[in-house]
Amino acid sequence: MNVLSLRDLRVHFPGAGNPVRAVDGVSFDIVAGETLGLVGESGCGKSTLANAVVGLVAPTGGSVLVRGEEIVGADRTQLRAMRAHVQMVFQDPVTSLNPRMRVGDAVGEPLLVRGIARGQDLRRRVGELLEEVGLRPEHAMRFPHQFSGGQRQRVVIARALALRPELLVCDEPVSALDVSVRAQILNLLVALQARLGMASLFVSHDLAVVRHVCDRVAVMYLGQLAELAPSHALYSTPRHPYTQALLSAVPEPDPVAQRSRARVMLTGEIPSPANPPPGCRFHTRCPIAQAICRSDIPVWREVGESQVACHFA
Ligand SMILES: Nc1ncnc2c1ncn2[C@@H]1O[C@H](COP(=O)(O)OP(=O)(O)O)[C@@H](O)[C@H]1O
Ligand code: SF4
Ligand SMILES: [Mg+2]
Repeated sequence: MNVLSLRDLRVHFPGAGNPVRAVDGVSFDIVAGETLGLVGESGCGKSTLANAVVGLVAPTGGSVLVRGEEIVGADRTQLRAMRAHVQMVFQDPVTSLNPRMRVGDAVGEPLLVRGIARGQDLRRRVGELLEEVGLRPEHAMRFPHQFSGGQRQRVVIARALALRPELLVCDEPVSALDVSVRAQILNLLVALQARLGMASLFVSHDLAVVRHVCDRVAVMYLGQLAELAPSHALYSTPRHPYTQALLSAVPEPDPVAQRSRARVMLTGEIPSPANPPPGCRFHTRCPIAQAICRSDIPVWREVGESQVACHFA
């Protein structure tokens, strides 16, 4: 079953001139237990898409189905029911936690607010959640500032797990952390997902991070998908020139794969999402662009194991 289905999702923000088309027609599915990576340069619309999935921004159009139920245009009661199944981990654990709230209260809040647990039972479940993320039950009495960045992100994850969501949306969950603790937090997320059978949408600008975490990867450019493929296919045979360019910047551990990989350098500025180029949105920066790319929008089609939007893939 699909935990999440996006169909032609659009999120446009009103701007001074043209609206900013942050997300401009994205479709994909996430099945139960699967991890889908969403990658692309800063400003391509990853966070806006993630926020739309959890109901934090209202889509301009299209459809967001959570376990088959439409959340676009849903009322508050329906959104609240949906949020039990879809939880989000943000980039910055400092701003995602209330500094004046003991972490045990923060982790237990979703259970308390929904009347699922209280008193002794709540304290026990909070202790279990803290242990699940590698902390100790007695940490419940502490305040966020008494933890390191990595530990704070563990607290945020424990809170997100409290309602046993079927989908965890992680927006750059390790980008704000010290390099030394990133691997620990990534490993924790992978282990929790496997154990709890949870699906996730894993957003990152870093292809090296996504590689080790995701079953499939979607590459986003200027509000649209350029390519969507199983991880092994995306990293071994990237089909879209933009994917090839992003991968050229990532060190390849395997020297054989490194040699066979096309070297594509990205040039030029990212165009404004308020004024995207006609035809293929990538044509202003694409090293192999032809005349057709400036006039015709490439159709989304299957090439091998991948889906790709390029006339020449
Ligand atoms: N609330 C907002 N109002 C207006 N523009 C926004 C808003 N949020 C994001 N944007 C714009 O939408 C585009 C996509 O932003 P974002 O989703 O944050 O990208 P990413 O997470 O990939 O870096 C950017 O041009 C950004 O400036
Ligand atoms: S459609 Fe043309 S411009 Fe777009 S990625 Fe393919 S070759 Fe490049
Ligand atoms: Mg972002």
